[in-house]
Amino acid sequence: MCDLGHPHQHGPFGFLVDTPGIRAIVAEARRVTAELAEPALRVEALRPAFATLLAADGWLPDACATPDETSGMGGGIGQYALYRAEDGSLCLFSLVVPPGAATPVHDHLAWGIVGIYRGRQDETIYRRLDDGSDPDRATLDVAKRQTLARGECYTLLPPADDIHYVKTISEEASVSIHLLANDTACVWRHRFDPEKGLVTPFRSGYTNAPCPPEGAR
Ligand SMILES: [Fe+2]
Repeated sequence: MCDLGHPHQHGPFGFLVDTPGIRAIVAEARRVTAELAEPALRVEALRPAFATLLAADGWLPDACATPDETSGMGGGIGQYALYRAEDGSLCLFSLVVPPGAATPVHDHLAWGIVGIYRGRQDETIYRRLDDGSDPDRATLDVAKRQTLARGECYTLLPPADDIHYVKTISEEASVSIHLLANDTACVWRHRFDPEKGLVTPFRSGYTNAPCPPEGAR
């Protein structure tokens, strides 16, 4: 399931956690991707099925809802692949952020939908004011802040509103579920330092699955 150290467990792609609910959301993502050309329409169409997944209890293994002290994201943040398409076109993962911890400011580079499964998070979304022509620098301004509790979702539609960070504000670790149209933890994306205006290449990695070798896709 969430620890691939055992020889009888699933490989690094496909359904790393295989439940009817995970199968259903992946099938729905495939359906809307085939039927709708616009990412904005796809994420809206996915909301009902995603809400059903967030409302259901008992499907997420405890091992995928646990902080990870060796995290590539820092702060004990665990990122657990639940489903990964081998071609990098879709992934479903849980993100576990300990109490008081925050992710780096980061982007995603793919459309998707994210919702809270446990705990509460504060999300801060940035607007980019520069034209992105300098790969090492970005001028960011806070566009929106919101508090999210179980069952609440937000959508990702790059390039708008694609840069954010989240912080856990509950006494328990927050667990959010992410469905994105890439292999999020294995793509090179960016972390940002809004105060210094700096951009750094960033690959978070999954806690429970390896990334393909560079250039393998
Ligand atoms: Fe994010």
